[in-house]
Amino acid sequence: MSYAGGKAILLGEHSVVYGHPALAMSLDRGVHAAAKSAPTSLLSVAPWNAEIVPDDRDTALPLQRAFAKVLATYAEVPRVHVEAQVQIPAGSGLGCSAALGVAVLKAIDEFVGLNAASTATVIERSLVWERVFHGNPSGIDSTLAVSPGLCMFRRGEALTPVRARKPLRLVVGDSGEPSATRGMVEEVARQHARNPARIEKLFEGIAALVTNAKMSIEQGDLKDLGKLMDLNHALLNALMLSTARLEEMCAAARHAGALGAKLTGAGGGGCMIALVEDDEIASRVESELRALSCTSFRVQSHLS
Ligand code: PMV
Repeated sequence: MSYAGGKAILLGEHSVVYGHPALAMSLDRGVHAAAKSAPTSLLSVAPWNAEIVPDDRDTALPLQRAFAKVLATYAEVPRVHVEAQVQIPAGSGLGCSAALGVAVLKAIDEFVGLNAASTATVIERSLVWERVFHGNPSGIDSTLAVSPGLCMFRRGEALTPVRARKPLRLVVGDSGEPSATRGMVEEVARQHARNPARIEKLFEGIAALVTNAKMSIEQGDLKDLGKLMDLNHALLNALMLSTARLEEMCAAARHAGALGAKLTGAGGGGCMIALVEDDEIASRVESELRALSCTSFRVQSHLS
């Protein structure tokens, strides 16, 4: 049985696609998968009731194309039935597609006895899957799915683990609005093409927030970190990536005592995160989010 986790981007989404740094943290939930021999290849995904036959044609569904591309990474294409169990919502900014791709790949590797593949090789091979869904992925989701932890990521570079002086507690709230990462990344690309100087300035602003947030985490200054997350959210809003519902959720979380709140992942719907100091504030944030009919869960970083 293989496992790959989801992730929450603390700061730096979108600018990370353009080579700027981002901070991210693994979730304690993701995707489990197992592969067994079969007459023809099939991918079953629960709880979606999806039965996916690999198909590389342009007319096929993204999951069919992604599965076909992963199978094609093997010297001898295996015939396998992969059963995957997904624990995170899809299209919500928590890296669901990357976790599914990595779990499927690792399950097939286990089945064919390819256990010695290096981390870098698994990430590179899993990106063939992620490109089907994201077009131009920075690689942050796939990298975190393969190498979990709290870390700083920069496109094309190895992960830098971040040592948190105090554990980070987040409430992750789901707006229930589906969001397509590919579409949001393309929207930012259009803005970038129209006015590169303005967008680069915004990205530089976000990069400065990321650098400061790393120091705040290392020093255990969570109040500072919360403010930096709020500022990052404002810049993402300036890129038109927030929605009325995400705004409402972030405001409710701050009102309930969160140190900071922001959208996480691609935006345009999906999830937000709120940084909380303790369980009592977490409960208050969760009850405010429930009042908005939003589901939520808690996640905590481990001290490294
Ligand atoms: O929506 P998610 O979970 O796939 O996160 C996307 C993060 C982006 O920075 C918007 C895109 C990327 O590839 O880094």
